[in-house]
Amino acid sequence: MDYKKMTETRQSCRAFDPVRTPDRAVLTQVLEAARLAPSACNSQPYHFYVAVDGTARAVGAATQSLGMNKFAGDCPAFIVVAEQPYNRSAAVGAKLKDQDYRAADIGLAVSQLVYRAHELGLSTCILGWFDEKTLQALLNTNARVRLIIAIGYARATMRCAPKYANPWKILSPGCDSSFREEKEDTHGEALHRVRSMQGLTGRACMEPLPRIRPGGVRFA
Ligand SMILES: Cc1cc2nc3c(=O)[nH]c(=O)nc-3n(C[C@H](O)[C@H](O)[C@H](O)COP(=O)(O)O)c2cc1C
Repeated sequence: MDYKKMTETRQSCRAFDPVRTPDRAVLTQVLEAARLAPSACNSQPYHFYVAVDGTARAVGAATQSLGMNKFAGDCPAFIVVAEQPYNRSAAVGAKLKDQDYRAADIGLAVSQLVYRAHELGLSTCILGWFDEKTLQALLNTNARVRLIIAIGYARATMRCAPKYANPWKILSPGCDSSFREEKEDTHGEALHRVRSMQGLTGRACMEPLPRIRPGGVRFA
């Protein structure tokens, strides 16, 4: 599967097959993709804990409260991402520039992980709703738990979530650089129009992108 296809077809899974646990070999490939992700000063400030069987049930339970993440009870495996200290150069950079690079580093690693999982035929859901203290006790760590990835095989095809936001701003001269609001067309289909494309003359500041997902974001 090429990268474009992967970005068009990955979706969060909330209906896992409870009896089909990803095997160790496939989980290792997924973790390897995360390990190769870029990070500030190559710091790789994270640990990944893989939970299967009874531990997966405990992790799944720790993600469920107030009606959230009920589907996690069926998920046969989880990857818990715990933040680790920066290496020295990343720590200096973060301090001098007053930035939190670790959140970005973890996001990038998790992104690579979920796309590799998708490529391998697995389904995932990134979870940010969980009981951190319970997980720290389970993992025997004081490290901050930042994300959990529910991972397994889907038992139902989920609908791709349309993406309404237009989160970029073109800074080339001659372009309208304002952020755009999402719009719904009269048929209820979410459309996302980059109006600054209209009336542009001379050098194009942005190439028109193709339609991203059926029924999802489009560029006019
Ligand atoms: C940081 C983060 C936390 C998330 N937490 C949850 C969660 O606790 N439960 C859940 O069902 N989905 C969670 N999601 C998944 C998002 O809801 C999902 O990515 C979004 O709706 C877009 O859908 P898609 O992943 O199918 O494209 C989380 C995603 C991210 C990136």
